[in-house]
Amino acid sequence: DQFDLTIRNGLVASDKEVFEADVGIVGERIVAVARGLPAGKRDIDATGKYVLPGGIDTHCHVEQRSGMGIMGADDWYSASVSAACGGTTMIVPFAAQHRGHSLKQVAEDYAALATEKSVIDWSYHLIVSETDQKTLQEDLVEQIRKGITSFKVYMTYEQLKIDDYQMLDVLALASRENALVMVHAENNDVIKWVSQKLLESGRTAPKYHATSHVALAEGEATNRVIQLSKLFDVPVLIVHVSAPDAIATISAAQRIGAQVFGETCPHYMLLTEDAMDLPGVEGAKYCCSPPLRDRAAQAALWTALKEGVLQTVSSDHAPYRYDHTGKLPHGDDTTFKQMANGMPGLETRLPLMFSEGVNTGRMTLPEFVALTSTNHARMYGIAPRKGLIETGADADIAVWDPKHEVVLTASELHDHVGYTPYEGMKVTGWPRTVVSAGRVIVDDGAFDAAPGSGRFIARGTPLPFQKERQISARGQFFRALADGNTEGHTGFGYTDRQH
Ligand code: URP
Ligand code: ZN
Ligand code: ZN
Ligand code: ZN
Repeated sequence: DQFDLTIRNGLVASDKEVFEADVGIVGERIVAVARGLPAGKRDIDATGKYVLPGGIDTHCHVEQRSGMGIMGADDWYSASVSAACGGTTMIVPFAAQHRGHSLKQVAEDYAALATEKSVIDWSYHLIVSETDQKTLQEDLVEQIRKGITSFKVYMTYEQLKIDDYQMLDVLALASRENALVMVHAENNDVIKWVSQKLLESGRTAPKYHATSHVALAEGEATNRVIQLSKLFDVPVLIVHVSAPDAIATISAAQRIGAQVFGETCPHYMLLTEDAMDLPGVEGAKYCCSPPLRDRAAQAALWTALKEGVLQTVSSDHAPYRYDHTGKLPHGDDTTFKQMANGMPGLETRLPLMFSEGVNTGRMTLPEFVALTSTNHARMYGIAPRKGLIETGADADIAVWDPKHEVVLTASELHDHVGYTPYEGMKVTGWPRTVVSAGRVIVDDGAFDAAPGSGRFIARGTPLPFQKERQISARGQFFRALADGNTEGHTGFGYTDRQH
């Protein structure tokens, strides 16, 4: 036989088109995409199905301690199984540096866990909370050169946040090393002030989480980091964009040429803050940061994806159980400041976007592919190896049954969270067969793969750094200043021209 595995008679989708083709696989790779291929040693009949590049989830929290110090409920095994069962074939979660810890040690420990347990291919981003010389100039540079070409910083959460001065050090380094900075942009002092006043007035229920993380705090911090990025003309990506305030500032910056990118998540497009207004503390299940917003925000997000203001849809899977280990450290007395932030979403991301996006006409199938896979691969330096069904690419494929109906319920999902924010919701469209690097790991809905069978994928240069970058005289001068290398520089601004 010419092929180890063939997927025949389906409709293959890319980020641009949908076409009839068979897919031929040898070992871990796609070697042919054409009509009329002969059956391989194993042949999957995809009649009536879509053959999609497996999802890539570039924002999820796996086996990680949160900004509030709470350990997530999913390890690399349960998270990667859950992802796979929902059609995602690569995850890129976070190795989080909490203050006082060595970034190098954090990264090495995290990679060891993934190597041992992940059932699908993986990489990780770093979360950087220290900006000392060793963290930035040694450990981070070493990680970037090993293929960890992106990292996240926080503007809020007391234990993780960096200030504007530190942000400039981080942005200068990213500019020099061609690494993509992902920013959690919320104004910490606004949230702190409102929270304090709410607690003092006796307002402790989960819904006040949304009150305190007011959308203008997100808009302000988003604008602030964009302005800071312009000092070096360095690309930045704003993660989990939730509201029109942030969308407007990103869009305005893009219109004047700033290299600003954005991500959103299914829950911001499908749920509203009203979900938190439940009896007792049950609203904690819907607590995430930024918080759920209103229907106007949902509409603005769908439009921002359609118009290309935002480029990726990630899960921001942040798995906390509805008990003392996660959402309710103080049981029924837990205040909105004490609940773990975040919601599960690794497994439901693709089905929700397909059912609520493609089936409703809010996005085309190629747009769905771009937002859930191709754009992630390009943005984070994984293309052309992943993100498209093409000769030479890794055989990471979701064979998608567009008619398969599922009523979402926590007990049928594979994460360890124990609840789903979408309990009882019906989705149409599910990946019944999933192929990871040529291995059929989900076969007609049944999962089978060994812990550790996924591979580390060293990532290349993120797309925003691959293009010839337009760096202004201002950007060039401040980059040189950051590197302590202004000799021979013509300088920038009136102060230099006076001499
Ligand atoms: O509430 C959320 N999103 N928790 C996860 C941590 C983060 O900031 O992404
Ligand atoms: Zn510690
Ligand atoms: Zn975040
Ligand atoms: Zn997150």
